[in-house]
Amino acid sequence: MSDKLIIFDTTLRDGEQSPGASMTKEEKLRIAKALEKMRVDVIEAGFPIASPGDFDAVQAIARTVKESTICGLARALDKDIDRAGEALKEAASARIHTFIATSPIHMERKLRMTPDEVVTQAIHAVKRARQYTDNVEFSAEDAGRSEIPFLCRIFEAVIAAGATTINIPDTVGYNLPGHFGELVRRVIEGTPNADRAVFSVHCHNDLGLAVANSLSAVLSGARQVECTINGLGERAGNAALEEVVMAVRTRQDIFPCHVDIDTTQIVPTSRLVSGITGFPVQPNKSIVGANAFAHESGIHQDGVLKHRETYEIMRAEDVGWGANKMVLGKHSGRNAFRTRLAELGTEFESEEALNAAFTRFKELADKKHEIFDADLQALVSETHYETTLGERVKLVALKVCSETGETPHAEVTLWVDGQEVRDAAPGSGPVDAALKAIEAIVDSKTDLLLYSVNSITSGTEAQGEVTVRLQRGGHTVNGLGTDPDIVVASAKAYVNALNKILIPVERAHPQAGDV
Ligand code: KIV
Ligand code: ZN
Repeated sequence: MSDKLIIFDTTLRDGEQSPGASMTKEEKLRIAKALEKMRVDVIEAGFPIASPGDFDAVQAIARTVKESTICGLARALDKDIDRAGEALKEAASARIHTFIATSPIHMERKLRMTPDEVVTQAIHAVKRARQYTDNVEFSAEDAGRSEIPFLCRIFEAVIAAGATTINIPDTVGYNLPGHFGELVRRVIEGTPNADRAVFSVHCHNDLGLAVANSLSAVLSGARQVECTINGLGERAGNAALEEVVMAVRTRQDIFPCHVDIDTTQIVPTSRLVSGITGFPVQPNKSIVGANAFAHESGIHQDGVLKHRETYEIMRAEDVGWGANKMVLGKHSGRNAFRTRLAELGTEFESEEALNAAFTRFKELADKKHEIFDADLQALVSETHYETTLGERVKLVALKVCSETGETPHAEVTLWVDGQEVRDAAPGSGPVDAALKAIEAIVDSKTDLLLYSVNSITSGTEAQGEVTVRLQRGGHTVNGLGTDPDIVVASAKAYVNALNKILIPVERAHPQAGDV
């Protein structure tokens, strides 16, 4: 058994299945480049049959990213596999990941197929995928609720047909660590040709056990873990990459395998993904939360000062927290700005994009003394969205009056489909008034599902990062806005979400069940 644990990142595929987390091609490319820089072994770039946009994104990533293997998802259907093969044609190293459900409930109720039919279709799919690449992964969807003898049977058959990776997903997050580790061990032992494939796991977090289940599987012989940055993913998400990687790295006394990840890229990549998707990272989140390395209690602080390891099992700088030290300010030039962003993994596609971001940077530097890496990443995410997607709605100006004992009142000027429009509204607070004034103009008929504010860095001078989640007709989007003024950040976030909802993207869901 290999002593290398393959890290398979599915932020761009399963992660994108988080309601509201859909990303543009350019955003996916930026994340893929950051994952490559982190030395992720396999990047699942998307589900090419889902939509032309998904196809283009996988193709663009396959063309650009050369150090990681690029994977495309396909149901066990010819049309899906052919589309994935086409999208991956220019990859330096391509993998097709095909899947079909194997649990009794999924086979009977969703697929309406017999176990024999499922095996036949799986074999056919793997053989077809092998026509495009010799790197083929097969997943038994809902393996966590499948019968072990049937898993062994289908795995033996697909390995014989050419599958090189066998994935055991806990699709509905139902398993417990001891039980799941036992399942993986029995499946590997019961599959006669198991030595010809790498066994993998893909755990969902419905019971908060995705990372624990994945690690238990590693102890039972799995040598690939499928995971996402910040644990993003369908419903409660997937196993968090940063937690899996740091657990294996920190507990080398327990794990019989190692990871090849550049862990210093973890925090910058986490920030990038959070900025792009609009999913904030909770402060107490392991590894990447703002408080993950903050010692509040005096006893702990004293211990750490005397001997760091009294209370720290990892070093903050090893996961990339140190990277936030570099400061730019009002007097920094374009070169310093461009160089720092390149170090953070952002290259500008055109001089125009650089100029737009640099203008924003100067505006921010006028309001805020020191600009940290996190500020730069937030600024780039915002500018990027505007220059690449175009905007139907743009915030031109905002004036808010808020005084003790008086009803807050906001006046907003927007640019809507090329026209400048102004309106005003009262509200229960300045944020409420600003968003109501925007709605007085746009009348979007959306429901506000979430409003949250985070501070990007520390201190009262820090920028506020606002996330707004809107829903209309079953379509959910997240909008993100940053500014030292949280009322302005809120208006920006709201406008950002409106633009996403006004330019919807049609796509199919991989697990919709029409196999
Ligand atoms: O959760 C799941 O089963 C999946 C498969 C497509 C691997 O995402
Ligand atoms: Zn999944």
